[in-house]
Amino acid sequence: NQYCDAGFEYESGSTTACGSGTAPSKLLIKGGTVVNAHHQQLADVYVEDGIIVAVEPSITQVGDDVKVIDATGKYVMPGGIDPHTHLDMSFMSSGTIDDFFSGHAAALAGGTTMHIDFVIPVDGSLTAGYEAYERKAKKACMDYGFHMAITKWNDDVSREMEIMVKEKGINSFKFFMAYKGALMVNDELLLEGFKRCKSLGALAMVHAENGDAVDEGQKRMIELGITGPEGHALSRPAVLEGEATARAIRLANFVNTPLYVVHVMSIDAMEEIAKARKSGQRVIGEPVVSGLVLDESWLWHPDFKTAASYVMSPPIRSKGHDKELQAALATGVLQLVGTDHCAFNSTQKALGIDDFRKIPNGVNGIEERMHLVWDTMVESGQISVTDYVRVTSTECARIFNIYPRKGAILPGSDADIIILNPNSSFEISTKSHHSRLDTNVYDGKKGKGKVEVTISRGRVVWENNELKVTPGTGRYIPMQPYSYVFDGLDKKDATYLSSLKAPVKRAKSSS
Ligand code: URP
Ligand code: ZN
Ligand code: ZN
Ligand code: ZN
Repeated sequence: NQYCDAGFEYESGSTTACGSGTAPSKLLIKGGTVVNAHHQQLADVYVEDGIIVAVEPSITQVGDDVKVIDATGKYVMPGGIDPHTHLDMSFMSSGTIDDFFSGHAAALAGGTTMHIDFVIPVDGSLTAGYEAYERKAKKACMDYGFHMAITKWNDDVSREMEIMVKEKGINSFKFFMAYKGALMVNDELLLEGFKRCKSLGALAMVHAENGDAVDEGQKRMIELGITGPEGHALSRPAVLEGEATARAIRLANFVNTPLYVVHVMSIDAMEEIAKARKSGQRVIGEPVVSGLVLDESWLWHPDFKTAASYVMSPPIRSKGHDKELQAALATGVLQLVGTDHCAFNSTQKALGIDDFRKIPNGVNGIEERMHLVWDTMVESGQISVTDYVRVTSTECARIFNIYPRKGAILPGSDADIIILNPNSSFEISTKSHHSRLDTNVYDGKKGKGKVEVTISRGRVVWENNELKVTPGTGRYIPMQPYSYVFDGLDKKDATYLSSLKAPVKRAKSSS
């Protein structure tokens, strides 16, 4: 059947192969170290009907209709939340091949229990875009939320933004400063959009690359006869990411609204964020796994299929950027890790066999993020286990205003839980991954730490290397505006206004 292409079974119309019919509504996770972003303790976790009921040492009084999971020697943590994905998205004459089922299955197998995807408007209509994504997400098997892209500007868009925020549970809007002729917006639209975001308490997000200069860089490469995937990196250097990041930061400062910079790929962009944060501006920086653990040398690989699989924007940078981005994440300059999971098969990537500009942009990561961040950041000693929870889950929940329903192991929180064994190991392979992709930019990577159990709202969906998922079980998580990043902004506005000199009174001139 249609869902059997990824190494797991789902028999359409039945729940016997992998349905949730046998899932107990009560779970007791015993003996593990429960980790939240601010605290860790040895404790048991008791779950009923998808909600965490108790987190205490030695829970015993729970009756016998309870599934007990032994977590001795392991970490019990909030499931990952991926703030940046593109499931079932039409883009660059193609459509991403992981949809809201296969993408979710892959996520759950890797310890991610929620993601926030980018709704793309349909012919500029936000409502039509929202409805299209509502339909796409009917097959969801984990919880999800939506950001929305703003690709043009008029009164309808401005009105619809309010509807999205007040009625549809969207509290963030993304502006693309690149993809000229497609999604790109100019500075005038950025300013209008930022002002509207501020008035609604919604977070402005930017894809920061100078799209006009990228266009120029691409022409330059083609003129030089550089048509392969390496031309992608050469045509859009880090300076163009730094410029756009700086510009977006300054415009957000001018409007006095918080800014979220997605997929921070370079030292150049990261340093602009560091500078702004140091001066007190509210800027959030999101590195993605590819930028943290890969380098651009893959784009020079002699095999087109391999090289093209690494094409994403902004490009994966030269060696050195990865380590600096890791350090920035460890020291709080950057706050949370996404993936930008945007999966195109090698047949789709082959659209650009003669011209790198036609290679659909995007790499995988939704399944690999939790393992790679653990191995790269925790196993290397760069961050603590509590910080790991913060950057993979809690901070995302706080920024998008769904904490502590998500991002925490606390009584009352949704039972989105993973059990990670720090003494086990993982190995990533195209053959065994759960994405529909026929490539994997992390193929062959091994490391310490393994997500052995994933629990999605109280259902054990990943255990003993087996997925048990059912389309339609995932829920939409609406997100309210005015998350903590807006706290006190009105006071800053008031201070600014009162700092303006009283209007100068001038006598009417008689001449
Ligand atoms: O290459 C990428 N990043 N593709 C997805 C669209 C975007 O820019 O986030
Ligand atoms: Zn089957
Ligand atoms: Zn982007
Ligand atoms: Zn993206």
